[in-house]
Amino acid sequence: MTRPADPAPAVVSTRAGLAAVRARLCAPVVLVPTMGALHAGHRALLRAARTLAGAGGGVIVSIFVNPLQFSPGEDLDRYPRTLDDDLAVCAAEGVRAVFAPPPAEVYPGGRPQVTVDPGPAGRVLEGQFRPGFFAGVLTVVLKLFQLTRPAIAVFGEKDAQQLALVRRMVSDLDLGVAIESVPTVRDPDGLAISSRNSYLSTAQRAQALAISRALHAGQARAAQGARAVLAAAEEILAAEPALAVDYVAVVDPHTFAPVQPGQAGRAVLAAAATVGTTRLIDNVPVVLAAGPDREGHASDAADR
Ligand code: PAJ
Repeated sequence: MTRPADPAPAVVSTRAGLAAVRARLCAPVVLVPTMGALHAGHRALLRAARTLAGAGGGVIVSIFVNPLQFSPGEDLDRYPRTLDDDLAVCAAEGVRAVFAPPPAEVYPGGRPQVTVDPGPAGRVLEGQFRPGFFAGVLTVVLKLFQLTRPAIAVFGEKDAQQLALVRRMVSDLDLGVAIESVPTVRDPDGLAISSRNSYLSTAQRAQALAISRALHAGQARAAQGARAVLAAAEEILAAEPALAVDYVAVVDPHTFAPVQPGQAGRAVLAAAATVGTTRLIDNVPVVLAAGPDREGHASDAADR
């Protein structure tokens, strides 16, 4: 027997419309916040959300290119907007409601005066290179939580620092939303799928592959400690002159501060680089072994 087709998602662009469809959804309500241009990475989130919602609950997807998280000179205007295709993806994945508001609906008073301060973990790596970015992200995520009141929200590990900051906001501000994550979805050649990949020419795409190659080479050295991980990744990035590297770093998965020499356990190897005019980020989880770095830093303990 075939499963009966899911009803098409309700598509709303106003707060009032969202409130009306939200009222008709049964628990648990699961939110997937996106900026649209949905691809296989987003689809993995939608599938996870559908599973988390179970037979009774409902998935809401927000599609909103949030001006607050773009700095002047970034790609707000050219960011891909593909609403019709996105709605087809949402329908195919059993989404119950799509909230696709214009900026004035989200920010009726213009730029908000009160925003979320992402704290110290929001000022390093992406926060250092994109000032104001995480304040913009967390502010819109908090607003989306308020407007949709989900039990669960789903985020991708592709944006590991964003995920860590959302978790931190939820716990520091007692938001009562369960945060679930989905591993990074990659193209068969290893490139992390991103809406911004559509900006890349064929040649640039080949050059961008050095990022995922570097991260996986680093990950393969985890048993040798953080310094070996970083050295392997740096070597591959340095060999691709078309990449302008903002950072490559082995960081703590919660604070995103660099790991200490000899630190063992879970960490994140993260990188950001620009190819042409397209800035790409990627990361892989690493589980560091303690010993080898310690040997390289024999004076460590004595120094303290
Ligand atoms: P966007 O870039 O559209 O991403 C929406 C969600 O999809 C994020 O949680 C992101 O981590 C996840 N995602 C993107 N590419 C992925 C991939 N290849 N594999 C797995 N997950 C992937 O992130 C944002 O939008 C915005 O900052 C947002 C949270 C919506 C706030 O505006």
